[in-house]
Amino acid sequence: GKTAKASWVCTNCGGTPGQWWGSCPYCQSMGTLKPFVASEDSVDGQTNGMKVAESVVRSWLPEKLVVSEPRSLTEVSYGMNQHDWRIPLSGLFGTEISRVLGGGLVPGSLVLVGGDPGVGKSTLLLQVAAMLAEVDIYVQRGPVVYVSGEESIEQIGNRAHRMRIGTSNLYLYSSTDVEDILEKIHPLSPRALIVDSIQTVYLRGLAGSAGNVQQVKECTSALLRFAKQTNIPVLLVGHVTKSGDIAGPRVLEHIVDAVLYMEGERYSSHRLLRSVKNRFGSTDELGVFEMSQIGLQAVSNPSEIFLSEHHSDSEILTGLAVAVVLDGSRTFLVEIQALCVSGSTGIRNVNGVKESKADLIIAVLMKQAGIKLQDNSIFLNVVSGFQLTETAGDLAVAAAICSSFLEIPIPKGVAFIGEIGLGGELRMVPQMDKRVNAVAKLGYNKCIIPKVAEKSLGALHFDGMTVLGCRNLKEMIRSVF
Ligand code: TYD
Ligand code: MG
Repeated sequence: GKTAKASWVCTNCGGTPGQWWGSCPYCQSMGTLKPFVASEDSVDGQTNGMKVAESVVRSWLPEKLVVSEPRSLTEVSYGMNQHDWRIPLSGLFGTEISRVLGGGLVPGSLVLVGGDPGVGKSTLLLQVAAMLAEVDIYVQRGPVVYVSGEESIEQIGNRAHRMRIGTSNLYLYSSTDVEDILEKIHPLSPRALIVDSIQTVYLRGLAGSAGNVQQVKECTSALLRFAKQTNIPVLLVGHVTKSGDIAGPRVLEHIVDAVLYMEGERYSSHRLLRSVKNRFGSTDELGVFEMSQIGLQAVSNPSEIFLSEHHSDSEILTGLAVAVVLDGSRTFLVEIQALCVSGSTGIRNVNGVKESKADLIIAVLMKQAGIKLQDNSIFLNVVSGFQLTETAGDLAVAAAICSSFLEIPIPKGVAFIGEIGLGGELRMVPQMDKRVNAVAKLGYNKCIIPKVAEKSLGALHFDGMTVLGCRNLKEMIRSVF
């Protein structure tokens, strides 16, 4: 055909910088800019990416999500709307996943499940797929389709078998081509679509390989249009990439309706599912699971996952104290471990507590409570890789250090809540009653809190637990050791 003007396109990210550069100004790849000539009557599928991709997707999906016009307030129906109805998810892990989603899966929503490779995203979504497939009050009768761009259907099938998932209403498909996926599932009119992962799928017409920013964004947008137009919910897996956020779930957060992140330490079997964005509900939710041989299971006592095994032994060790912290809507009891070694070179080794925070607590213990830590090496650790960010944990850190230094164990069933000021005074922290109640429910017999917080509690006895208010560190030391 007749040619118009020459231009440049990056074969990695699809960027069109308008002139030649040695490295792409958008994605910094070297030598990926290729010339292309846009002609009016022929479209080059390899390079003229955007146009082709859009025309293919547009061929059976409307470009605009909703066709609407301004309407008078009084004409707008209120009360129950389409987002109030959710697909309930229960069974395999109780209602844990429903809760994180804000009460269930909203039809037509696009949900992104992000996390490090290997954390358990595929496992979770296979289980969610099985749960969705079994919901029988669902209006849509079709199957759930689980599409993987990473594994063959045999591999997924084997995994499902090991996890004792055996529903016929779950279809597996292996493909990386978004248009192919959408075309193939169309005749099934599925009740839900799962795509694992967004980094492995691509749009045919777009330049660049699967996983680059442009592909990841456009594929997500295409799936969003699909979800909105068909009212079929779509769940996407997104790997958090090594380099941080490039082409990872971060760039997609504003496109999708809800974002859940899965977290877990390598050496712990616990997995946290955190809602960081939810267009249809609260983000103050946290799900707690445990990875087992047969997939993820809900944890029955999630408050206690950051306590070490010693809490069930009879032996009592020195240098251990329990803090009470809040995360999302949950309360966690977190074990702090301290080790003071006298007569050594004064090493500080801190894990899970900010170094500046540890320094401050140690300084206050020396100056305001008379604990002679001067010639000690001090090691601090928070169990299971938990990062202590709340000031509410200060008092437990101080108590753990004192216990190790004095070589007196803290009796079992004692928890600490409180912030430490520079004068050694104990200060109030938010949601005292919620924390104290959580500790009492777990059968603890004593909870040490700042004296100033007593008023906010109303009572000093909770289910057989005594609450003890202390003005400062000295008082705490006197009453515990
Ligand atoms: P996977 O879901 O594949 O992680 P992701 O999709 O986030 O990359 O799970 C990874 C790990 O979980 C893998 O090392 C094996 C383990 N696992 C179990 O312990 N139990 C199970 O039932 C399954 C399916 C996996
Ligand atoms: Mg996976």
